[in-house]
Amino acid sequence: MRMYDIITKKRNGEELTKEEIRFFVEGYTKGEIPDYQVSAFMMAIYFQKMNMTETSELTMAMVDSGETIDLSKIKGIKVDKHSTGGVGDTTTLIVGPMVAAAGVPVAKMSGRGLGHTGGTIDKLESFPGFSVEMSIEEFMANVNDKKIAIAGQTANLAPADKKLYALRDVTGTVDNMSLIAGSIMSKKIASGADAIVLDIKTGSGAFMKDEDSAFELADEMVKIGTHVGRNTIGVITDMDQPLGFAVGNALEVMEAIETLKGHGPEDLTELCLTLGAHMLVLGEKATDYESARETLKEVIKSGKALQKLKELVESQGGDARFVDNPELFETPSIIKPVFAKEEGYIKAIKADDIGIAALVLGAGRETKESILDLSVGIMLHKKIGDFVKKGEAIATIYANDEGKKLQSEEKIIKAYTIVSESIEKKKLIKGIVTKDGITKF
Ligand code: URA
Ligand code: CA
Repeated sequence: MRMYDIITKKRNGEELTKEEIRFFVEGYTKGEIPDYQVSAFMMAIYFQKMNMTETSELTMAMVDSGETIDLSKIKGIKVDKHSTGGVGDTTTLIVGPMVAAAGVPVAKMSGRGLGHTGGTIDKLESFPGFSVEMSIEEFMANVNDKKIAIAGQTANLAPADKKLYALRDVTGTVDNMSLIAGSIMSKKIASGADAIVLDIKTGSGAFMKDEDSAFELADEMVKIGTHVGRNTIGVITDMDQPLGFAVGNALEVMEAIETLKGHGPEDLTELCLTLGAHMLVLGEKATDYESARETLKEVIKSGKALQKLKELVESQGGDARFVDNPELFETPSIIKPVFAKEEGYIKAIKADDIGIAALVLGAGRETKESILDLSVGIMLHKKIGDFVKKGEAIATIYANDEGKKLQSEEKIIKAYTIVSESIEKKKLIKGIVTKDGITKF
């Protein structure tokens, strides 16, 4: 088999065989096929596309390119949740404990933040002592014992994807549905989930800016999951503004604690109930979506979900006293409001720019080596549809450096669009994709 023939076959719009896809993935992972051939091949896929059979094969070949995690020692159906990335997205810290409290084992591999999006591990490290370093055996023992553990991605999962993603990133071939879907699903499948709930974001802060592409991506991922025997559901949600009010590590942890107590922001609470309810159904701890939501409201009301967060923090070496006493979290030296320069209704809040406004304060990473300041960030006071008077606070900045505060302030003001006519609130949950089809709300 020759890579040259595989490239020209796809260039001419033909369907590739299983053997050809495997040959490419294995050869590229081993370094036997050069980047220039793979660049041409990715461009051929970009223009000619791949069908479902090819996409599933590519996904599974990428899974098989490295280690896979065997979670079979964990009792019950392991349901993973994956978000395509947002700003102020604290859902894992809330959904994880909620779902675990309702009896579904949560074995979560999480990442650190990069660029304008935050990472769950960074947020959890706001609890002094909290660590994600553990062996796979400890990880599984924790899940069996506490129903929840959150680990860093240590294993060499889907190395073919890692290499391919880096190449796509510099060759203009990232935004192809099959390639994105295969990339995300290969990592989820390799990390051992039995079932997967995907939160596909759409809007200014998301990867998929328009709704139709988000539905298309969800459909592709659900089909891959179904094809390889993992029950998968995709929920399409709004990322046209940050989620909740807090953006920043310790601030988001405090927001998660409030939400687990039942006093969280409306949008964040609704998203957590929606994603969590689907997880309960897939994990067979509820027979239907509505009763799953009731169960989740109950674990919040009874305090069991909050208790689960404490157990998680404690079992991974963190100081769980912070959960009941959020005033223990370090507060930065500068806490200053940002005032509206005009009166009107909030039409838009560019989520990616708010993410960057938090990043410049030190809440996010510019490079993998950046050291974070977990105490800094932004609290938004106004969201889309709200009315603001001139001189009223739209946000509060938490900073440790006056210069950075000024930079951040400028970005926040620019991120907001204020207009004179009234604006309707955004719909948060835009639809759902299951193996049975697409439902738009
Ligand atoms: N995220 C991924 O992990 N892969 C892609 O291809 C795009 C986004
Ligand atoms: Ca938030």
